[in-house]
Amino acid sequence: MESIPISQTKEIIKNNLDYTLFSWSKQKGISPIAVKYAKGVYLYDYDDKRYIDFSSGLMNVNIGHGDQRVTEAVVKQMQEVSYVTPSCVTKVRGELGKKIAEISPGGLTKTLFTTGGAEAIENAIKMARLYTGKHKIIARYRAFHGASYGAMTAGGDPRKLASDAQQIPNIIHVEDPYCYRCPWGKEITSCSRECVSHVERVIQFEGPENIAAILMEGESGSSGCIKYPPDYLQKIRALCDKYNILLIADEVMSGLGRTGNWFGVDAHGVIPDMIATAKGLTAGYLPFGALIVSDKIAAHFDDKVLWLGLTYSAHAVCCAAALEVLNIYEEDGLIENVNTMGKYIEAEVERLKEKHPSIGDFRNTGLLGCIELVKNRITKEPMAPFNANPEEMMIMNKVAAKIKELGMYTFVRWNYIFIAPPLCITKAEVDEGLAIISEAIKIADAYVI
Ligand SMILES: Cc1ncc(COP(=O)(O)O)c(C=O)c1O
Repeated sequence: MESIPISQTKEIIKNNLDYTLFSWSKQKGISPIAVKYAKGVYLYDYDDKRYIDFSSGLMNVNIGHGDQRVTEAVVKQMQEVSYVTPSCVTKVRGELGKKIAEISPGGLTKTLFTTGGAEAIENAIKMARLYTGKHKIIARYRAFHGASYGAMTAGGDPRKLASDAQQIPNIIHVEDPYCYRCPWGKEITSCSRECVSHVERVIQFEGPENIAAILMEGESGSSGCIKYPPDYLQKIRALCDKYNILLIADEVMSGLGRTGNWFGVDAHGVIPDMIATAKGLTAGYLPFGALIVSDKIAAHFDDKVLWLGLTYSAHAVCCAAALEVLNIYEEDGLIENVNTMGKYIEAEVERLKEKHPSIGDFRNTGLLGCIELVKNRITKEPMAPFNANPEEMMIMNKVAAKIKELGMYTFVRWNYIFIAPPLCITKAEVDEGLAIISEAIKIADAYVI
C-alpha cells in the first residue's frame, strides 16, 4: 500500500515522539510546538504560526530569542578553543568571573562554574557542608531547586514525590510565607511574621549546631511567585547570623535581571553567603550555571581541598556566551526595561481583575509573575489544587489549550498562569500577550461560583 505523505511538521513531531522522551509528562497525548526558528519574544513553527513566548522558555531566555551577538561570541570562542580542562584557564573564564564579582552583592567574588542550575545547588549544599562541618540544610516546601537527587530533595516541589524514596539525607523543610494563603491564617498587615518564628523553632528543634545552611530562592518562581513579606529575607539573614548558619540564595530563576535587579536578593537588602544561578546567565543559548561564594568561604579553601568538580566546569564556549549575555543586559538596558514593563504589567493585570472574577491573585516582581485562578475570591478555592491530578486539571487544561490556540507559549501549572516574558519585551508585545491571557481566562470565569 502506498504510504500517505505526512507534512513536514507532522514528521518532525513524530520523530520526536517516537524517539525521544519528554520531561514531567505521560508520553502519550502530548502535542508539542515544533519550533522552526525564534526571534525576540516570538517562536515560529513550521507552518509559520507565531507564538508569543510569555515565559521566556523556562524563564531563562532573558535577552530574547535569536540574538546573533551570542552566536558570534560562541563561534569566535570555538574558533580559538572550545574546551580546556577545569584545571587550565582561559581568558574568557577569568573575565566572566570578574564580571560576575562586579554585579554580585558585596563580598561575593569567587565563582565555581557548573553545567546548569541543579549542579549549582548540589555544589552549594556540598560546599556549605565542607565549610561549616555541619550537615543539615533547611529549605522550603514550595520551592524547586533542580532535578538531580540532592537538588530535588532540597526542593519540596511535588515533582519529586514519585522518586522520593531516594532522597538525600539531612534536608529539613519549612513552610513558606505564602501570604495569599497564610499557613497561620494571618494577614500580612497585622501578623507577627509567624513564618519567621516557625523557621526559628525548626532551627532550635533540629539543633543549630547541626545546620549548615538555609536555602531559599532569591524570589520564588515556579511554585507560584510567592512573594516574601518585605522584611522576611532580612529576618532569615538575622537568624542565620544568630545561629551561625549560611544563607544560600537560589537565583537560578530570579537572578540576572529577571526581578528588576541583578539578583532577587538585591531588592531585599540582603547579602547571602552563596548565590546559585544559571538560566539567565546564558539566557538559554547554552546550558550553564554558577555558584558564587563569599570571600570568606572562598578563603577557607585556600588551604583546604575543594572537593568539588565537573568535566565541564567553566566550559570556554559557555563562558563566552555568558559574557556576551551579560554585556547585552547592559548594552540594551534590559534591567531598566524589566522595571518599566513589570510596573506596566502589574497595572494592566489590575484592570484584568475587574473583568475576570476568576483572578484571585497576581504576584509579580519585575518580570517574574503569576496569576492565580480561583473559583471563588472569598473562599479562594483554587481552579486546580496544588499538585492537581489530570481530572482536577480539566478547567486549567482548557485555559492552557486556548492560550496555545491563540498563539502564546507560557508556563501553566495547577491554577497558575505565568507571566515572565523575555526582558526585552515591548509595551505592544505585553498588550498582545495579556489580550490572549484575558481571552483564555474567560473559560475559567465560567466556573466561578
Ligand atoms: C529556582 C530554581 N532552581 C534550580 C533550578 C534547576 O535548574 P536546572 O534545570 O538548570 O538544573 C530551577 C529550574 O527550573 C529553578 O527554577
